[in-house]
Amino acid sequence: MESSHRFLLVALTVASSIIHLVQAQAGFISLDCGLSPNEQSPYVELETGLQFLSDSSFIQSGKIGRIDASLESKYPRSQTTLRYFPDGIRNCYNVNVYKGTNYLIRATINYGNYDGLNISPRFDLYIGPNFWVTIDLEKHVGGDTWEEIIHIPKSNSLDVCLIKTGTSTPIISVLELRSLPNNTYITESGSLKSILRSYLSVSTKVIRYPDDFYDRKWVPYFESEWRQISTILKVNNTINGFLAPQEVLMTAAVPSNASVPLSFTKDLEFPKDKLYFYFHFSEIQPLQANQSREFSILWNGEIIIPTLSPKYLKASTLYSVSPFVCEVGKCLLELKRTQNSTLPPLLTAIEVFTVIDFPQSKTNEDDVSAIKNIKDTHGLSRVSWQGDPCVPRQFLWEGLSCNDKNVSASPRITSLNLSSSGLVGTIPSGIQNFTLLEKLDLSNNNLTGLVPEFLAKMETLLFIDLRKNKLNGSIPNTLRDREKKGLQIFVDGDNTCLSCVPKNKFPMMIAALAASAIVVAILVLILIFVFTKKKWSTHMEVILPTMDIMSKTISEQLIKTKRRRFAYSEVVEMTKKFEKALGEGGFGIVYHGYLKNVEQVAVKVLSQSSSQGYKHFKAEVELLLRVHHINLVSLVGYCDEKDHLALIYEYMPNGDLKDHLSGKQGDSVLEWTTRLQIAVDVALGLEYLHYGCRPSMVHRDVKSTNILLDDQFMAKIADFGLSRSFKVGDESEISTVVAGTPGYLDPEYYRTSRLAEMSDVYSFGIVLLEIITNQRVFDQARGKIHITEWVAFMLNRGDITRIVDPNLHGEYNSRSVWRAVELAMSCANPSSEYRPNMSQVVIELKECLTTENSMKVKKNDTDAGSSLELSLSFDTEVVPTAR
Ligand SMILES: *[C@@H]1O[C@H](CO)[C@@H](O)[C@H](O)[C@H]1NC(C)=O
Ligand SMILES: *[C@@H]1O[C@H](CO)[C@@H](O)[C@H](O)[C@H]1NC(C)=O
Ligand SMILES: *[C@@H]1O[C@H](CO)[C@@H](O)[C@H](O)[C@H]1NC(C)=O
Ligand SMILES: *[C@@H]1O[C@H](CO)[C@@H](O)[C@H](O)[C@H]1NC(C)=O
Ligand SMILES: *[C@@H]1O[C@H](CO)[C@@H](O)[C@H](O)[C@H]1NC(C)=O
Ligand SMILES: *[C@@H]1O[C@H](CO)[C@@H](O)[C@H](O)[C@H]1NC(C)=O
Ligand SMILES: *[C@@H]1O[C@H](CO)[C@@H](O)[C@H](O)[C@H]1NC(C)=O
Ligand SMILES: *[C@@H]1O[C@H](CO)[C@@H](O)[C@H](O)[C@H]1NC(C)=O
Ligand SMILES: *[C@@H]1O[C@H](CO)[C@@H](O)[C@H](O)[C@H]1NC(C)=O
Ligand SMILES: *[C@@H]1O[C@H](CO)[C@@H](O)[C@H](O)[C@H]1NC(C)=O
Repeated sequence: MESSHRFLLVALTVASSIIHLVQAQAGFISLDCGLSPNEQSPYVELETGLQFLSDSSFIQSGKIGRIDASLESKYPRSQTTLRYFPDGIRNCYNVNVYKGTNYLIRATINYGNYDGLNISPRFDLYIGPNFWVTIDLEKHVGGDTWEEIIHIPKSNSLDVCLIKTGTSTPIISVLELRSLPNNTYITESGSLKSILRSYLSVSTKVIRYPDDFYDRKWVPYFESEWRQISTILKVNNTINGFLAPQEVLMTAAVPSNASVPLSFTKDLEFPKDKLYFYFHFSEIQPLQANQSREFSILWNGEIIIPTLSPKYLKASTLYSVSPFVCEVGKCLLELKRTQNSTLPPLLTAIEVFTVIDFPQSKTNEDDVSAIKNIKDTHGLSRVSWQGDPCVPRQFLWEGLSCNDKNVSASPRITSLNLSSSGLVGTIPSGIQNFTLLEKLDLSNNNLTGLVPEFLAKMETLLFIDLRKNKLNGSIPNTLRDREKKGLQIFVDGDNTCLSCVPKNKFPMMIAALAASAIVVAILVLILIFVFTKKKWSTHMEVILPTMDIMSKTISEQLIKTKRRRFAYSEVVEMTKKFEKALGEGGFGIVYHGYLKNVEQVAVKVLSQSSSQGYKHFKAEVELLLRVHHINLVSLVGYCDEKDHLALIYEYMPNGDLKDHLSGKQGDSVLEWTTRLQIAVDVALGLEYLHYGCRPSMVHRDVKSTNILLDDQFMAKIADFGLSRSFKVGDESEISTVVAGTPGYLDPEYYRTSRLAEMSDVYSFGIVLLEIITNQRVFDQARGKIHITEWVAFMLNRGDITRIVDPNLHGEYNSRSVWRAVELAMSCANPSSEYRPNMSQVVIELKECLTTENSMKVKKNDTDAGSSLELSLSFDTEVVPTAR
């Protein structure tokens, strides 16, 4: 018989120890939900002898209700009160349990018209992050029901959650947990949701504790084709661990017509689910010598157990060890006597369960305890802060984000936003227990004390906002080192002294810079928010108030303080009569020079033949005079004397990116991390142009030859001759002449002449592809002429290693390369609507860089055992912050 191995008959196995009733209720947790605080807790319920506790210390939300007084006498005391949840979508009970122990969990819901509305509620119950059952009281005459599940918790904390699914308010009357022996009710996988537990008797009594040692609820069930037999003798039920109650075992059903099978046709609610059966038998008729009772069990006509013969006054349990599936909808269960049997088949009791898989893992336990610790110590009470912090995603705790893509792995908390949460005291040290935290926002609280050092040790952090607090001291150096490697940190004050008032030396300039810093910071926050929703939105949703800092006075101020106007004679002198040409830029030749014989500069002299030139020259001077960012080549001064026009820039000793990639700058190959850092620098420069200065600016000529590298290989964007500014709020501007460099030029801009910052994103995507592949933008020999076509072609062949610059010799983390390729391709999407904006690009690239660096650290650790600090340190001077 194919299926017979799926059943196990527990008959004569002796229970190793008989648990004495004095210990009873030891594994019980019985909560009377909504018990009035005026009532004594715990109390012993007369009807059941169970000891009930008030639920108030197991839940923080909900309100207390009481069923209609006229119905009270119908129910035991514990079911006369209830807790209802008008607020929030998810409300959870949290109970301490023993992990790995098998629990029977039962929720009892008794509406009892507590609200006088006479509308039966409908809502869902969850166990932790997983769906358990829908409660629909409409389906239950009398307005009360209970649901049971047998479940093994994977941690010492169990959440039972009520979820509002429609308009009705979730309610609960009783929540009970009973620990079961670990050798009973076992599944191959999943938990057992009870759909039926019946003893076959004409009685009307529901049997539970104290008759049932484990407090299972047995409901009487009988069909008209059956005849009841019973005994007054005791049946030995301690033979197996199931301990079916004595009262259950004292009656049984047999078919009235001894020659027909005992068939069990009760409809199963989810006939296609996986089912587990538990049959309980005991012979309760003394058999004569010439009598026998022997029968088979059939499932939809197929024999699953060929012969079975219950022992006299001894309980036995037959159960499935693997699940059954009822494929034909309604399934028929029959007990049929064998040919030799003189007596008809007999059945004492039956339990049927469906398997529920709980696929969603709970959030990482350390993260959970860390967030609960912060919640408790700071008295944070938010309606959504109940149940599992991360999952299911629709019930994510407000202010958190998690990495929860893989359901079989425990979600991790990656972002914590406690902005405006009324926090006081010092920055909570428990924050360091979030070991995968990337973003931390503690702004707008009343936090005091110093910025703690431990923040610098949290390797995954990319973003910290501590503004609008009462912090003291300065940012620790360790944290400032992290800042150089991409960590964004926002504080009040001037970054070196949080509680100092900045000196009022250049009020206009500082005001201007501070204003732009705030704007940038706000934008970054907004964009992070947009970004976490993983939508590449084209433009910002927030239109900022216009702050016209581009007034003449400021320009003049800046010129006075920083940039100079030079005479032509000075230009001749500084270039030593144009001795050494560095290269040819847009509309002129660039010469090497010395300022005051010490500071090296690059001098672009506009060719006099160029009539276009003057316009671009003016554009560039005006633009560079008002922008200042570490990733934009800075203007030292200019010369505008009759026909002699020259621009004097800071000198970039390492030349342009293109030369480096093509190997023209000697034999050194840029490492992958350096390349990523260059990409971040360029992205930061563009982000500043797009969102950090006003009016916003589009560079229009982003390409690898316009990206210059300083002595530390920090990248700066050069050549602003084609740049255009436009007001924030105008998304785009119709420009008459489309300008840019073929290959880098946004096809959409080319087609529509509509200029927007997204055109720079396109060009940046091309540059990023160059950085990754070291391919030429156009190459006839390649077949796929344009670099984007080529990369797309290679990607379709699934060959990422062939895309990457072979000069890197595989020394990169393929995950970070993969992300970078994906990012570059989305930047170079022909349709601007699908491109990320520069802020999103910055975040993504920084994450790539973090991945790459963290891999490096691990590698170094195992190779040389070097410390984290050492392997992460770049050994450069403090880079002044750009904003
Ligand atoms: C069941 O519980 C007993 C005692 O609590 C323990 O010794 C045994 O290892 C457990 N068995 C399993 C399979 O967990
Ligand atoms: C029940 O059966 C077990 C095993 O057969 C035996 O050890 C035990 O004494 C019996 N109990 C009673 C009350 O007969
Ligand atoms: C009992 O069942 C058999 C077989 O179905 C049938 O032939 C017989 O008439 C039934 N007897 C009674 C008393 O109904
Ligand atoms: C069994 O034996 C008893 C007498 O001991 C007799 O009355 C009865 O008819 C027999 N039953 C069968 C089915 O043989
Ligand atoms: C019926 O009983 C006889 C004698 O007791 C035995 O030889 C035979 O195998 C039994 N048949 C079945 C199907 O159990
Ligand atoms: C999901 O997590 C599980 C357990 O950690 C792991 O075995 C599996 O490989 C992960 N799946 C994916 C797609 O990452
Ligand atoms: C944190 O939450 C506040 C208010 O909900 C929001 O303004 C801010 O942008 C959030 N911070 C981050 C980093 O998302
Ligand atoms: C942080 O984790 C450590 C070790 O896991 C633990 O001892 C400590 O209590 C935790 N602190 C907080 C605040 O959760
Ligand atoms: C800080 O505390 C003061 C005084 O208790 C209060 O007025 C203010 O609202 C608090 N600020 C924040 C951001 O919570
Ligand atoms: C700031 O810190 C210094 C020493 O660390 C202390 O003397 C001073 O009182 C602190 N100020 C505030 C406002 O907490």
